[in-house]
Amino acid sequence: MPGTAGRAAIGIVGAGSLGQAYAALLARAGDDVVLVASPASAARLQAAGQVSLTGAVTADVAVGAPGARGGTLGVTDDPAALGAVDGVIFATKAHQLRRAAADVAYAMAPQADRPWWVAGVQNGLIKDEILGDAFSEARLVGAVSILGAGRESDGTVRIGGLGMTYLGEFDPPPAAVTARVHDLVGRLVAAGIPAAGVPDIRSVLWSKACNAVGVFGVSVLTRLAGPQMWANPDLVRAFRALVRETDAVAKASGVTVGDYRGFPIRTYLQMTASEHVEYAAGLVASAPAGPVAPGAYPSMTQDLLAGRPMEIEEVFGDVVAKAERLGVEVPRITLVSDLLRGLNAAITG
Ligand SMILES: NC(=O)c1ccc[n+]([C@@H]2O[C@H](COP(=O)([O-])OP(=O)(O)OC[C@H]3O[C@@H](n4cnc5c(N)ncnc54)[C@H](OP(=O)(O)O)[C@@H]3O)[C@@H](O)[C@H]2O)c1
Repeated sequence: MPGTAGRAAIGIVGAGSLGQAYAALLARAGDDVVLVASPASAARLQAAGQVSLTGAVTADVAVGAPGARGGTLGVTDDPAALGAVDGVIFATKAHQLRRAAADVAYAMAPQADRPWWVAGVQNGLIKDEILGDAFSEARLVGAVSILGAGRESDGTVRIGGLGMTYLGEFDPPPAAVTARVHDLVGRLVAAGIPAAGVPDIRSVLWSKACNAVGVFGVSVLTRLAGPQMWANPDLVRAFRALVRETDAVAKASGVTVGDYRGFPIRTYLQMTASEHVEYAAGLVASAPAGPVAPGAYPSMTQDLLAGRPMEIEEVFGDVVAKAERLGVEVPRITLVSDLLRGLNAAITG
C-alpha cells in the first residue's frame, strides 16, 4: 500500500474522537490511512460515507475501504486489513487498549519481519507498558497528545483545539530524533496537526501525567470545567497538591518534568501558591461568561457527565501503584483515586 513519496499507510485503531480526528486530518492531507474501528463504529462510518470534523477544523473526509486513495479514509473493523503499514497509532480508551493491542498483534503476525512502529495517545503512563508488552520495546514510539476532540450527538467530531502531539523514543534515550519519529512528525505537521519530536519523551509523559492527575482529580470531583477551576484559589491549590505528589513519583522514577505547551509543569512547581493563583486567574480573564459547553470540560469529566467509564486505574491507580513500589507517599492522590473509583462504580453500575 504505497503512500506519499514511497511511504506506506498509517494505521489508526479506535474510531472515537481522537482516532477520527487524526485519521481524517491525515487522509485529507493525502496520507494513506487505515482506520480500524469497532464493528458498530465501522458500520456507522461506512453508512455515513464520511468523517465530519467541526470546530478548529471544518472538513468532511470521504470514507472507503482500506486501500482507498486520494484523500479517502480507509475504514475497517478487521485489524488484518492494516497490512504493510509504517506504523499504528492506538486511539482507544486506555481501558480498551490491552484487548485492542492483542487483536492487532495477532493480525500483524505476518508483518513480523518489517520495522513498523506502534504508539498510543491514551492518557496515563501504563499505555506504553501495555504496547511494549504486546509488540516489543523496539517497536514502541512514545506519544503524548493534547489535541482536544469530542463527539457530538450526530457523530460529528468537534476539534476543540489542535494541541501538540509530542513523539519520541524510549531506550536508550537518543541524542536526536530518530528517522521514524521524524517521518511521523512530518506527516502530522503536513496534515495541520502541530507535532514535535523530543529527545526525552519520558519527561513529556510524566509532565502530562502531572497535569492529568491534577486537572482530572479536581474537575471530576467538582464537576467543574477549566475556567471555573482556574478562577477558584482553593481549586488551584488542590490542583497544585496533586501535581506535586505526581512529580514526587516522577522524580523517584528518575524523570525530571518540564514545560510543554499546554502543561508548563516545571513552571507550576517553581511558583508559590499565590503566584499560581494569580497566573490561573489570568488564564480565565478572557474566557467568555455564560454556560459551559459540554466539550469545554476535561475529557474525564466529559466521560463522567455522559455516564461512560472513566480511565481511573490507568491515570490514578497506576501512579499510586508506582508510588507504592518506589516508597513515595501520595496520600492525596490515593484519596482522590479511591473517591474516583467509587464514583466510577456508581455511574457505570
Ligand atoms: N479526546 C481528547 O481530546 C483526548 C486528548 C488527549 C488524549 N486523549 C486520550 O485518547 C484516548 C482516546 O480518547 P477518545 O476521546 O478518542 O475516546 P473515545 O471517543 O471513547 O474513542 C475510543 C474508541 O476506541 C474504540 N475501540 C475500543 N476498543 C476497540 C478495539 N478493540 N478495536 C477498535 N476500536 C476500538 C471505541 O469503539 P466504539 O466506537 O464502539 O465505542 C471508540 O470509538 C483516551 O485514552 C483519552 O484519554 C483524548
